[in-house]
Amino acid sequence: MTKRRLRQSDVQSAAIELLKSLNIIVGLEQLLENLCARLREILGPATVYISLYDPITGRYAGVMARGPGAEKAGLFGFSGSNPLVRWLHVNQSLLNVRLDKGVIGFLPPEERLILESNRIALVVPLIALNRLTGMLFLSEKEDQSAFTPAEVDALTMLAGQAALAVENAVMRQFQEERLKKLFHADKLATVGELAAGAAHEIRNPLTSIRSTVQFLRKSLPPEMHGYVAGVIEEVDRIDGIIKGLLSLSKSSELHLSRVDLRDAINQTLMLLDSELKKYGITVVQEAAAADPTVEADQAQLKQVFLNVILNAVQAMQGGGTITVSMADRPDGKREDSIDAVRVTICDTGPGIPPDALQRVFDPFFTTKENGTGLGLSITYGIIYGHGGEIDITSRTDPSAHGTSVTVKIPRKADQKTH
Ligand SMILES: Nc1ncnc2c1ncn2[C@@H]1O[C@H](COP(=O)(O)OP(=O)(O)O)[C@@H](O)[C@H]1O
Ligand SMILES: [Mg+2]
Repeated sequence: MTKRRLRQSDVQSAAIELLKSLNIIVGLEQLLENLCARLREILGPATVYISLYDPITGRYAGVMARGPGAEKAGLFGFSGSNPLVRWLHVNQSLLNVRLDKGVIGFLPPEERLILESNRIALVVPLIALNRLTGMLFLSEKEDQSAFTPAEVDALTMLAGQAALAVENAVMRQFQEERLKKLFHADKLATVGELAAGAAHEIRNPLTSIRSTVQFLRKSLPPEMHGYVAGVIEEVDRIDGIIKGLLSLSKSSELHLSRVDLRDAINQTLMLLDSELKKYGITVVQEAAAADPTVEADQAQLKQVFLNVILNAVQAMQGGGTITVSMADRPDGKREDSIDAVRVTICDTGPGIPPDALQRVFDPFFTTKENGTGLGLSITYGIIYGHGGEIDITSRTDPSAHGTSVTVKIPRKADQKTH
């Protein structure tokens, strides 16, 4: 099969078509998919891989690929200090693997291997507002012929436009997530207000039930005491739920002090030690922040870590690993980046299916027989109350599953009422 060789004018008109299509696509995923498909069509590489900067992890992650070997997209992940990333950032130009042998020679062997084993011919930086927001990796053409200078020129021009379109789509996604969060906060406030009103009404009779039952116990034969204990246990459970609801109400003020997040996490882990041992769960503490202290409400933050780690434990009753990591670098260079410490807690449990993932912050959403569905709502309320952010990502693939919860806590609580 002979591939159509593109002349300058063909390349240009195809590129213009592609640009038009990029501008009307709104979703990031669809945009990247279209970019891969059209690049393959116009320029003929066997496979196109796209790697994008992720402000949460501070790394470039392989997010999309089309063509043979597309399942290896994940390999195209690099840290921000990686030599290839730095070269692209500094030179802001396309790397031609066949021609720029000198540059390739400088790369560490593992990276050279990724490029070679996937027969990458061109690496193209995606640059928006002078920042390297991502990279395109084009493999050789199916017929192994080299890319012509006209094709390389067109690609450079396209990459500039594609970078802007991708940046726009990322920003839009970011805004949408933010709106969704505000919506959550609103829902929480309503539940909190209702709860605060009802809680006192419920707690008074509850207290009298508890003391009456305890009083009656004295006049019951010992073999009946078990029933009394059962009633008291249930009463305490109701009380626990009400306490949880109350903490959603906006009157919960922050008692600020200097909190060492590492200590807060270690104390929570100690509290759960017997559970962790019982289910054979290993805890790995990774990458500590240079300065793990924040000004925050210590008791509330401990509650956050307890809720999140307890969920991880409950998801891994057949054993697994909890990884706790902490970072205090500002997240990317986005305008809203704040001085904060980020704590990420990952588990290797079964993960949360997408439809459930949308609802985990909803008050009373639970998939557990004895769950209250309040753990994450309360957590959300606390983090939001500190002016922070919380994100949950989860995977349910049989080969790679687990849940990752990241909380971003500002160094100095930016107190918000719901
Ligand atoms: N680490 C996790 N792994 C799997 N599912 C989780 C995890 N964390 C939360 N979930 C899901 O989110 C739901 C809500 O969690 P939460 O608000 O803490 O309430 P509860 O733990 O009482 O169910 C859980 O029932 C579960 O389905
Ligand atoms: Mg829970």
